[in-house]
Amino acid sequence: MAMDAPAGALGGAGGETTYVALVRPARRLRGELTVPGDKSISHRALMLATLARGESRIEAVGDGADVRSTAAICAALGASVERFPDDVTGRAAYRIVSPGVDGLRPPDGSLDCGNSGTSLRLFAGILAGLPFRAVLDGDDSLRRRPVARIIEPLRSMGAVLHARSNDSLPPVTVIGRTPLGAVDVTTPVPSAQVKSAILLAGLRAEGRTTVRERVATRDHTERMLRARGVAVRTEPWAGGVAVSLEGGSTVQAMSERVAGDVSAAAFWLVAAAIHPDAELTLRGVGVNPTRRAVIDILRAMGADIDERPAAGTAHPRPDPTPGHEAAGAGEPVADLVVRSSRLRAIDLGPAEVAGAIDEIPVLCLAATQASGTSRIRGAGELRNKESDRIDGVAAGLRALGARVDVEGDDLTIHGGARLTGAPTDSLDDHRLAMTFAVAGTSAQGETSVRRAGSASISYPGFFTQLERVGA
Ligand code: S3P
Repeated sequence: MAMDAPAGALGGAGGETTYVALVRPARRLRGELTVPGDKSISHRALMLATLARGESRIEAVGDGADVRSTAAICAALGASVERFPDDVTGRAAYRIVSPGVDGLRPPDGSLDCGNSGTSLRLFAGILAGLPFRAVLDGDDSLRRRPVARIIEPLRSMGAVLHARSNDSLPPVTVIGRTPLGAVDVTTPVPSAQVKSAILLAGLRAEGRTTVRERVATRDHTERMLRARGVAVRTEPWAGGVAVSLEGGSTVQAMSERVAGDVSAAAFWLVAAAIHPDAELTLRGVGVNPTRRAVIDILRAMGADIDERPAAGTAHPRPDPTPGHEAAGAGEPVADLVVRSSRLRAIDLGPAEVAGAIDEIPVLCLAATQASGTSRIRGAGELRNKESDRIDGVAAGLRALGARVDVEGDDLTIHGGARLTGAPTDSLDDHRLAMTFAVAGTSAQGETSVRRAGSASISYPGFFTQLERVGA
């Protein structure tokens, strides 16, 4: 039976996520899938449309609860936000009409980011440059996630920010200021959320704002700002990048189509690669160089993945906007075909972990089925996600019979495990819920996933699609 959480769940907490999913092994996995619109791109498309004066139409937006939290905040700040959900594809089209950044207004109450760290951190950057007070809050999981990393740089630009527990945890109060002062900062941890928050604040600063990253993170904010008329410079720096923009630049309204989410596609790549009789085709997946590490890591492990020019989407576009390519704003897309594979162990260091940060849990599952012993080193940032993903993934995979050792922030995964169905717990974390469900398709017997409805944070329709391909 399909276990997807009902539409309308905002924030991931509460009854919607209390489902237990029962997954029985799939005899074979076959099918063609369209994954949701990329979550990172979807958030940014809605936010940038809110900063731009006029109308933006955005198609194929991921319709998970996180992106809907962002949409609700855009509306609370004064944009007109219309959502047209498409239940067949689990995506939505949006029409946003905004008065532009100078017409945004103080929200009536606190802004609910639900489970979404991206909403909280990027809106903190936007609000830093708006001349009013706003409070960003979220569910219990979000209230445990670190915010000092955005508070410090945004304060140094002149905004006033406060947070709970000695300015370390949400809710975050932002009292913005126009204009801000430009800064040149080096991020303490590789984080596209921190980089993006500073760049978004930099739009409202006097002078040039520069963010330096020792390890380059996903560059959607940069690409999408460029597509909307803002000159963003990216230069090599210390093995990573220095990204800068001039304050006072205007973000222009535009229409676009969001690329498929490679982080969602990762579940199908691993599902097929570890299954003895599988072939899945994934349509229109984003393959941005700063996001595609999971594809390259799986290939290095021996996964049989073909990458082909995108042949269009599996479903008709509900409201085609003439002149906008499937790739969206400068985001490359491809069709991926993945088949049953013989996997080999892999050794990933901190920079590689940063490049595949959201896919590490499902890569751990792949490692349990590889020959040899895999190591994933320097993965401490995983402890700061929707759950502690190091301990969470280790507990779930161990319950299924895998050998996983955790030492500090390093994981050692012994390959060749015979997975046996067992109860697992997603800890209300969407990526763990889907990782354990995928494990269940290759395990013997029945796997249960507690709080499986959390999958709808990023992937409404995941369990329906899992049944459709054969589990
Ligand atoms: C994201 C950046 C990453 C990632 C998250 C989405 C983004 O977080 O884990 O799912 O859209 O910028 P960090 O910036 O905390 O690494």
